[in-house]
Amino acid sequence: MTMTKLNVVLAVLLLIVVCLTGSLDTDLSQPNYEFLPNMKRSAASSAFATNAVFSNGRTLQAPVAGTIARGDLPLYYAPTKEDAIRAGDELINPYTPASGAASAPQANNNAAEQASPPVVASDASQAALDDAAKSVDSARPDPATLLQDSVQRGSQVYNIYCISCHGATGTGDGPVAKRGFPPPPPLPTGKSVQMNDGQLFHILTYGQGSMSSMAAQLSRERRWDVINFVRSLQQNATPPVATEPGTAATPTEPTAPETQPSDAQESKP
Ligand code: HEC
Repeated sequence: MTMTKLNVVLAVLLLIVVCLTGSLDTDLSQPNYEFLPNMKRSAASSAFATNAVFSNGRTLQAPVAGTIARGDLPLYYAPTKEDAIRAGDELINPYTPASGAASAPQANNNAAEQASPPVVASDASQAALDDAAKSVDSARPDPATLLQDSVQRGSQVYNIYCISCHGATGTGDGPVAKRGFPPPPPLPTGKSVQMNDGQLFHILTYGQGSMSSMAAQLSRERRWDVINFVRSLQQNATPPVATEPGTAATPTEPTAPETQPSDAQESKP
């Protein structure tokens, strides 16, 4: 077939298609025929669709009052100094071995469970229990290793999120502070040395003075990690007298902004 003949055939075909399309009685107000409608419309309600089953007519229901999302234990603290101190008394660093016993990261809130009294048992079954306990203990990761790993992760977190203000060694000489931001107090030697871990957790969660909350950037696990890293900075710090007597960073008390901790707290802590 020559090129011209092919073109003629194609032109005729095109004409037929155009005529057929024009002759179709299309009602634009009606949806087209749906082939396999279940592909588009599933039996399950979609989240924001109306729903006759519930009295409020919605599919998406608010959680029942008091519901706690899995892995998301609520914190009952306000962004105030008093609550920071209370957090220091109440919150347990999951990496702190509780009275010598290995406490895994999850032991955060259930340290008490570990101290359940032994059940009375016959000698034989007691021996079996002891054996079982021993094998559980040996399977449990060594707390020192857990802490070491946490410090390691914390140093990465620190280098990403804190170094800009607090500086590489925590003395408060980060680039941001050098360009006019109120210099943070020194972490290795300042007040934070005396604070409990829980108070540091509160500071990271709710902010303090001109430092804003880090809760949106750091999960709780990462906050504990960076706290453990700050502790390691403090342990490695030589006594304040011997170090940096006159560095650019002002290793003074955090005097100026005694404002209440920042209220930029929309994000879930
Ligand atoms: C935008 C700069 C900035 C960043 C980023 C920042 N901080 Fe701060 N931080 C400050 C300032 C400023 C203060 C002093 C706040 C006040 O009390 O007025 C402070 C205070 C603190 C304190 C309390 C110290 C004390 O002696 O009262 C701790 C602990 C702390 N920061 C840890 C961290 C950690 C850990 C990170 C990273 C996850 C971090 N900060 C990120 C600026 C910052």
